[in-house]
Amino acid sequence: KHYVSTIVVVFGASGDLAHKKTFPALFQLFQAKLLPENFRIIGYARSLLERDVFVKKATSYIKAPADQVASFMEICEYMHGSYDNAEDFVKLRENIEAGEEKASSHKMERTSDNILKNRLRIYYMALPPSVFLPVSENVRKIVYNPEVENHLVVEKPFGFDQESSRVLNSQISKDWLEAEIFRTDHYLGKEMVKNIMALRFANTFYEAVWNKEHISNVQITFREPFGTEGRGGYFDQFGIIRDVMQNHLMQVLSILAMEQPASLNAEDVRDSKTAVLKCIPPIVLEETLLGQYTKSVDGTKPGYLDDDTVNKESNTPTFAEVAIHIDNDRWRGVPFIMKAAKAVDVAKVIVRIQFKDIEHSIIPKLARNELVIQISPEDKIYLKTIVKEPGLSSKLTLSDLNLSYSAVFDDSLIPEPYASLLLDVIGTDHSNFVRADELDEAWRIFTPILKRIENEKIVPLPYPYGSRGPEGESDFHIRFGHYKPRQL
Ligand code: BG6
Repeated sequence: KHYVSTIVVVFGASGDLAHKKTFPALFQLFQAKLLPENFRIIGYARSLLERDVFVKKATSYIKAPADQVASFMEICEYMHGSYDNAEDFVKLRENIEAGEEKASSHKMERTSDNILKNRLRIYYMALPPSVFLPVSENVRKIVYNPEVENHLVVEKPFGFDQESSRVLNSQISKDWLEAEIFRTDHYLGKEMVKNIMALRFANTFYEAVWNKEHISNVQITFREPFGTEGRGGYFDQFGIIRDVMQNHLMQVLSILAMEQPASLNAEDVRDSKTAVLKCIPPIVLEETLLGQYTKSVDGTKPGYLDDDTVNKESNTPTFAEVAIHIDNDRWRGVPFIMKAAKAVDVAKVIVRIQFKDIEHSIIPKLARNELVIQISPEDKIYLKTIVKEPGLSSKLTLSDLNLSYSAVFDDSLIPEPYASLLLDVIGTDHSNFVRADELDEAWRIFTPILKRIENEKIVPLPYPYGSRGPEGESDFHIRFGHYKPRQL
């Protein structure tokens, strides 16, 4: 759709999310010339900042030549205002309207009667949950104009459990239409996550074996080599399950496991994702392994409880491994094992789809085929395949059919997840955003286990910073049918 003007208001413009993600993502789109004409960015936050201080902050994570950054900043301005004072929101509205007027007076389209409908306003909430609601209510009451297109961009945490998420959603949906809301999960903007649909539905040989007849188990693993450094206050309330599992990893699971959507249309895609989530019973404690990191073995890295912002008695897990079962005809009996770990040995987010053994094979069992989709740090897809070792012997070996993006494509073209998602917000494409019913289902699956962990004060197992995880980590997936190749 063509807009006469597009305005993005970044609330929380002096905060971390805005500097680290929102402004760099907008810059990436600007640099790639993907922003529509008459595009303006208004940073809004409480601090009184001189323009040069704002510019310094907003560009602190942008890596590009100074002249390009300077021309990007020409479309950015800063307004300070409170999050609860109506007058400040009136000023914001006047500022937005003045910009829109200017843009449309430049354009001959002004003659059109529905000129207002050709304006887009994006309200980007780079805000902590405590101020998100007052801001979105004030925007709706004071700034919102039903004659223009309004998009509200929000980010997790979307509540704390199923109940609080429902309360939050009902408060937001009093004011905003679902079609106006873009619930961001940045994993949906990652290249490899966006690629899963193409991989599954455009390749005969994957789709043909994508079921319980051929797949033994699926592992979705998130490992990070750092702890809560500086974020303990937030993390201690939420824990690893809420921080990455219920949202990021569950999104990956739903795209891996869903049925083929009726079309690529956003509602069809989200219908399919929601439908598969509905087939998943809540996770149980008996199929869960919890851990919390302690000081590194060499003593150089602090334990979780050494973080000053963490409660000294905290039982909050920084490691979790759970088994998820999907009760439908495609997946019945195929465990999806999800693991999320902070302060472990490596940085890696990876999906492993392990295939079943060939029945009655004449070849002795050596290993299983595995399709591996690496989401980060590098984008890769490889298929673990058994071949005969070259040479005169008939020895077998496990090798990789390897598609490493950096070797095959220009991987500098891979956008930042936030840039890709912002482009979808501008283009009104909801496919990669979380719908309310989908979110509710994800909470339904995780809320009982979270309640049990908290009510029964389950003590997580310790593991040293930089290790693989707590004791039992290496056997957990084996319990659910994962086959480790024997030493080759
Ligand atoms: C965030 C979590 O949502 O995702 C962080 O709050 C986590 O704790 C991050 O580190 C991981 O994202 P990425 O893109 O680095 O894999």
